[in-house]
Amino acid sequence: MRTETGTVIRLEDYRPSDYLIETTDLSFSLQPDATVVRAKLGIRRREGVPADAPLTLDGDELVLKDLRINGETLAENGFTVSPDRLSIGELPESDTFTVEIETALDPSANKQLMGLYRSSGTYCTQCEAEGFRRITYFLDRPDVLSVYTVRIEARTEDAPLLLSNGNRIEDGVLDNGWHYAVWHDPFPKPSYLFALVAGNLGVVRDSFTTMSGRDVALEIYVEHGKEPRAAFAMDALKRSMKWDEEAFGREYDLDVFMIVAVSDFNMGAMENKGLNVFNDKYVLADERTATDADYANIEAIIAHEYFHNWTGNRITCRDWFQLCLKEGLTVFRDHEFSADMRSRTVKRIAEVKLLKAHQFPEDAGPLAHPVRPRRYSEINNFYTATVYEKGSEVVRMIRTILGPEKFRAGLDLYFDRHDGEAATIEQFIKAFEDASGKDLSQFALWYEQPGTPNLIVSNNYDAAAKQFTLTVEQRLKPPVEGAPHAPMHIPVKFGLVGAGDMEWNGVSGADVTGDVIHITKPKHEIVFEGIAERPVPSLLRGFSAPVTIYPEPDDGELAFLARNDPDEYGRWQALSALIARQMKQAAFRTDDDSGDVLDLATCDILTQIASDDSYEHAFRAFCLTLPGENDIAREIGSDIDPDAIHRVHAAASRQLGKAGERIFARLFHGLEANGPYSPDAVSAGKRSLRNIALSYLCHAAGDIELAAKVYGDADNMTDRAHALALMVHLKPKADETLDALAAFQQEFRAEPIVMDKWFMIQATAPGAKTLDSVKALTGNPGFAWDNPNRVRALIGAYSTGNPTGFNRADGEGYQFLCQAIGRIDGYNPQVAARLLTAMRSWKNLEAGRRELARGAMATLAERQNLSRDVRDILDRTLT
Ligand code: TRP
Ligand code: ZN
Repeated sequence: MRTETGTVIRLEDYRPSDYLIETTDLSFSLQPDATVVRAKLGIRRREGVPADAPLTLDGDELVLKDLRINGETLAENGFTVSPDRLSIGELPESDTFTVEIETALDPSANKQLMGLYRSSGTYCTQCEAEGFRRITYFLDRPDVLSVYTVRIEARTEDAPLLLSNGNRIEDGVLDNGWHYAVWHDPFPKPSYLFALVAGNLGVVRDSFTTMSGRDVALEIYVEHGKEPRAAFAMDALKRSMKWDEEAFGREYDLDVFMIVAVSDFNMGAMENKGLNVFNDKYVLADERTATDADYANIEAIIAHEYFHNWTGNRITCRDWFQLCLKEGLTVFRDHEFSADMRSRTVKRIAEVKLLKAHQFPEDAGPLAHPVRPRRYSEINNFYTATVYEKGSEVVRMIRTILGPEKFRAGLDLYFDRHDGEAATIEQFIKAFEDASGKDLSQFALWYEQPGTPNLIVSNNYDAAAKQFTLTVEQRLKPPVEGAPHAPMHIPVKFGLVGAGDMEWNGVSGADVTGDVIHITKPKHEIVFEGIAERPVPSLLRGFSAPVTIYPEPDDGELAFLARNDPDEYGRWQALSALIARQMKQAAFRTDDDSGDVLDLATCDILTQIASDDSYEHAFRAFCLTLPGENDIAREIGSDIDPDAIHRVHAAASRQLGKAGERIFARLFHGLEANGPYSPDAVSAGKRSLRNIALSYLCHAAGDIELAAKVYGDADNMTDRAHALALMVHLKPKADETLDALAAFQQEFRAEPIVMDKWFMIQATAPGAKTLDSVKALTGNPGFAWDNPNRVRALIGAYSTGNPTGFNRADGEGYQFLCQAIGRIDGYNPQVAARLLTAMRSWKNLEAGRRELARGAMATLAERQNLSRDVRDILDRTLT
């Protein structure tokens, strides 16, 4: 196991490699615990590099069996080798030569799930970011592009299926029941995009004709018997391919596109060229086993990985500091795809909620980093909400600033210029500058400066002069010491709301183009002329920049916007700010959980929206969803008492449930499904509104009778899982609850990804007692410490989705998490390190819990042999 070595990698130290690997011929002889890999690398010395420059290749836990240069065995003193490095000093004079390397691997023992490993008997690989070096010694960095030819040999019985990137160019039978296949990928690629899959899987086939008329074979590989559950994923793939042609002019480039679903996977999915590997929970779905949220995730992730073919694969990253070049851009593309497939406003609301729930706390805590970090000690710890989600918001802002046409022209230029290259953020920005003629140098600070900018706003209306003045100041409190904090270019979409959006006949003090104010200076006084009456400004429509606004409008103005903003997103934004403020205020009113949390006007707006059929169902469902306990905690920001917040949340649910009881009953009965299940967005919206109504009815009644009935009657997992969660969270010990839990386990015990819901629902039951059930559930036969999905469903959900259960006043929750991390770190550092990020906001807790949280982490830090992954998160979190 790799342990901490203390090396820090710096952006400014980037230097191209001395050698290139132009061709990579791999040959795998697959055996469960004794696989042999032969690599023949076609090396070229870069021009100007002296012949005595050593060739130093990366490795990780490798065992070298043989080494040849131009076919000749090397003298012992011609190289040095260790499990993590092969350095060859004695090289031919000529600029090109071959290096042949034989390594021996034990895929069955690989529980890190990086490199070549086995998942339920299937051989598979995961190479991003630095997993290829666990297969063979290599220049394992994204700027070394190579053309791969891969021969795979295996026992036909164990692995009838042999897959790698590109096109199959040969296959055949060998002696002793073995067979082989040879794959060739004509597109040069970095090693992190290499993939191999071998095993015995079922397949779903389809095809797609591209815009230039080429036929592409589509194949999705899943466990035998699960083929029908891949139908939705296949449909999502075809829609993604079509959409990328229409929206961005991007056509697929190989003759075959394959997706393989595996059950042991560290993250969501991986974009390997022509052979995407997926966590099976993001492929498999039918109404009996998957929720509407699962369907939406599958659609988004299938699209995301497919879109990487252009944004990531055809144009890749020069180094891992540029990770947002592919991830931020690809997230932006999958967001746009989902917006077009579903409802744009509803999709945007979901994105903003997610951004605020995950990225804002990251940016406000000890793990804050720029969208493009400048240093790292473990790159796996930088696959973060900041790189992905804020990275996407930065791309969205470029579009807002340039407008859709110039944005598209800039992206086209980027594709044109850099196809086949490993690029940087500077080159990305330059393409937009050149296509638009705009200077984006100030804008580029979004990639450099960590932290969430705060806009401090005030306004003034001069009736006599018909002038409305908006004062906007930007402040960035950099949580990272020494980080720059120059004023940024912040595009603020807005409207001045009266009876509708008002017009003005002159504006000064800032660049205002259309409905966007460009904040570029520390302070702007923006004067709008010809304003006949005092407007209420609706700022940050569509969440046009990832910033906070302070102070938010007063309650009266928010209520006005919630009712009257012509912009639908603006209505939701105002309403949710109004509710959050009132819940936050109630959390400070100690020892009072009898009183009302929301004022009458707010309840009124909510019940009115609930019953207004002119709104989409999903929009109404979002409006009626109270900010979560974590959201309120984030708004409060310091000295957090999770129990007080929980009481307020419960009280608000009860209050609103009672206030709207008749409407909720009507929705609940009126929205009963009257046809077969369909996962489309409109049907999903109806289910979500009906299920919210059910929640309020249960909270108002203080019992779970209706939920138990829904649980029993439901014909789909969306309704079932929602009803079960209501029962477990409201009445964990009721007979109906225990019966439902037992029935669920009985029905799904053989389906791990469905059982994850069962684990998650129990792990998120509020209250201190939940720790006992979480501990007991680790002994459940369905739980497995070495499967990342199980660990996330139980321990991840407990530590991030259960504020009262996890933040027990006695600190036992923190102890449990840190012990679990210590255990998991022994075999899967990536998953262990990610679990630890649940502690990132520990400094915001009230003093008692804060000290206990620190203590639990300090105990973990005392362990010897912690991985570099966990050590890095721990060091940064504790300081
Ligand atoms: N590049 C992948 C994506 O965003 C995610 C990824 C990075 C990954 N590292 C990984 C997946 C390790 C699995 C394991 O689509
Ligand atoms: Zn990605």
